[in-house]
Amino acid sequence: MAATRELGISRFLNDRVAKIPASGIRRFFDMISGMEGVISLGVGEPDFATPEPLREAAIASIHAGRTAYTSNYGLFELRESLAEHLARLYDVRYDPRSEILITVGVSEALDITCRAVLGPGDEMIVPDPSYVAYVPAVVLADAVPVLVPTSVETQFAPTAAEIERHITPRTKALLLGYPNNPTGAVVPREELERIAVVAQRHDLLVIADEIYDRLTYGVEHTSFASLPGMRERTVLLGGFSKDYAMTGWRVGYACAPAELLEAMMKVHQYVIMCAPTAGQAAALEALHGGEPYVQAMHAEYDRRRRTIVDGLNAIGLPTFEPRGAFYAFPDIRPTGLSSEEFVEALLKEEKVVTVPGDAFGPSGAGYVRLCYANSMENIEAALERIGRFVRRRTA
Ligand SMILES: Cc1ncc(COP(=O)(O)O)c(C=O)c1O
Repeated sequence: MAATRELGISRFLNDRVAKIPASGIRRFFDMISGMEGVISLGVGEPDFATPEPLREAAIASIHAGRTAYTSNYGLFELRESLAEHLARLYDVRYDPRSEILITVGVSEALDITCRAVLGPGDEMIVPDPSYVAYVPAVVLADAVPVLVPTSVETQFAPTAAEIERHITPRTKALLLGYPNNPTGAVVPREELERIAVVAQRHDLLVIADEIYDRLTYGVEHTSFASLPGMRERTVLLGGFSKDYAMTGWRVGYACAPAELLEAMMKVHQYVIMCAPTAGQAAALEALHGGEPYVQAMHAEYDRRRRTIVDGLNAIGLPTFEPRGAFYAFPDIRPTGLSSEEFVEALLKEEKVVTVPGDAFGPSGAGYVRLCYANSMENIEAALERIGRFVRRRTA
């Protein structure tokens, strides 16, 4: 009895859950609660509210009494519109009846993909640094994440050669999250083509998280499934959170050949039932009338991107040019601080929230992530504060 009490309730925890750490991002948000005058470039979400017509569409759907579950797959009109949208933008074709599943964000789509595909001992290749949920999703599916380091030398894009070096007989899948969180990297089309050859050669499934597909700057997004032969071995994940400023609505999607999608659907069906109905109405409107808003937000992010990248370089923190998403990833080693020390000291001394690069994997050490989905005024003020902070450290 005493022994049981000492072990506490955690004795009931499953090993895999006990093993994964809480997100390295959250800790810093807890530190700022109650602090005045903080500028947060921490959280990775648009500062824009969801465009008005999208909100109106959800309200109209609620007023019309559409408050029940939708099909497990999601509203058929939404799947149909999505199929047209993806065909128009990327020339990838999915059957809305059997190859598209509307999910609770890419978060759920990623989880059900991993659970449908991975098993004990299977390895999944994950370029490093990458979005914080990738490694836990693999671990929770009882599989093994194999990190492929990327660095500023290749603009944080993984190369086919590096990926191939990490393939073993247990490798089942490759997870590509580009445009990338946290680096803003995109993978050049020619490199994606070489990666496709590797995927084919080693018979890998490719999970392509393309949630930032509409947020690229000066380069066109290539959807991995559109490369020759890749549709049949790709799960395309996408969503509305970032492109349409809809993080709180919780709507995303997964597209895959029918047999695989059906397996993912089983997990989704028992755990989720369906994505939120009003959120799906907003998403449908996003595909019909969202384009001008996407373009306006994109133009604004691009302006901020140039300001923050130039500003950080001028301060003496070398920052490569991010070509996608809404993050800058400066090298903070000139300050002599570790990522964590930098983030903590900057927060305490100058009240600017950033995220340590190594919260996204070991290759992020020596860097920090700044989200520039924030007002120009805040970005300029943050740059001034960071400049002051860096001058003190390097004087
Ligand atoms: C690369 C990436 N994938 C997925 C997600 C999760 O997005 P969702 O809101 O669609 O669950 C995020 C959110 O930050 C992200 O950056």
